Amino acid sequence: MSIILAIFTFIVLSLLFLFLTLSFLIIKSYSGKSFKDPSYPPVKDIATDLFGQGIFIVDGEKWRQQRKLVSFEFSTRVLRDFSCGVFRRNAVKLVKTVYEFAIADTVFDMQDLLMRCTLDSIFKVGFGVDLNCLDGSSKEGIEFMKAFDDSNALVYRRFIDPIWKLKRYLNIGSEASLKKNIKLIDSFVHKLINTKRNNLAARQDYNQKEDILSRFLVASQEDPGKMNDKYLRDIILNFMIAGKDTSANTLSWFFYMLCKNPLIQEKIVQEVKDVTGTGSQEKEINVDDFVANITEETLERMQYLHAALAETLRLYPAVPVDGRCAKIDNILPDGFRLKKGDGVYYLAYAMGRMPYIWGEDAENSDLKDGLTTEFFNLNHLSNL
Ligand code: HEM
Repeated sequence: MSIILAIFTFIVLSLLFLFLTLSFLIIKSYSGKSFKDPSYPPVKDIATDLFGQGIFIVDGEKWRQQRKLVSFEFSTRVLRDFSCGVFRRNAVKLVKTVYEFAIADTVFDMQDLLMRCTLDSIFKVGFGVDLNCLDGSSKEGIEFMKAFDDSNALVYRRFIDPIWKLKRYLNIGSEASLKKNIKLIDSFVHKLINTKRNNLAARQDYNQKEDILSRFLVASQEDPGKMNDKYLRDIILNFMIAGKDTSANTLSWFFYMLCKNPLIQEKIVQEVKDVTGTGSQEKEINVDDFVANITEETLERMQYLHAALAETLRLYPAVPVDGRCAKIDNILPDGFRLKKGDGVYYLAYAMGRMPYIWGEDAENSDLKDGLTTEFFNLNHLSNL
């Protein structure tokens, strides 16, 4: 009997200990932290395992250096021409894929296709290598994509998991999965960096330095200590995280809006036909010839399309909330006083729907021109 009592007491005490520890961790996570605390939310703590020392994580001088380097690289003609070509080729692949689905009358997930397409594009611009996720022909590519997406989701889960550090320490559950995924990403990326470095050393690729990695590798020859493999991995992965979901999600919302607003869809199609000069041809033009007509110059003239994309971003901003931390005491334009270290956040999603900024039809436009403009703000579009 006394043994049973001892076991019972042991179990109850263990459970009580567990409960108290968990409660303490939860209270610690949510108390004592406020918008006045510059380390809240603890983004660096949470995201460094995946993002490393990339532009999203670093502040101050480190951020400035990266920002200068990438803005310089992105403004170069070589990189701009290269990335335009990549996006164009992948757009053709996407159209052909959708066309095949349409011919076969198959239901498909548009957002998934767009995610694959933007990943292929940004990976090619970043590393100069075809990942082939859209057509699914590369097993390695698909594995990388999965690890990349899963890691992103697992990192964001940390924001609502008060015991993630304990789980990371014990290497269990979601943290064990995250560690495995990051290992896969790192080995994939480091293999690429090594291959590129070797090719560059053998001067095989010297004249083809179009992708970001190759350009940085050339730059790193001047300062190999600073631009080591880890730094290169961080810079490029941050770009992929920045560009893939934002572009794919914006396009998904854009197509969703076009489906809901067929007349606006018609207007865009007409504008594209007029500007590219493909509207008058009797024979249907093929997609390769059509894409060859999409140049910087023709894109500049597609103002209605531009406005429709801007409206999509107003209503469904790819980064719906963003913020900054005050470096010094300051006063906002409306007179609000900030103390050094205060966090300031702006909600692009809410701001894009405020009637006092966009008019009464900010969110639900009235019917105009016979259109059901539940989403599009025709005050802006109809003026074009
Ligand atoms: C629809 C597409 C996109 C949208 C709406 C978007 C939006 C944004 C926003 C709102 C920020 C935060 C800016 C700030 O806080 O100052 C940002 C940062 C950034 N974006 Fe994009 N982005 C898009 C696509 C891309 C692409 C394709 C790339 C690169 C391939 C990219 C690279 C970056 C980088 C590197 C930053 C960090 C900049 C910094 O900290 O200085 N973005 N983006």
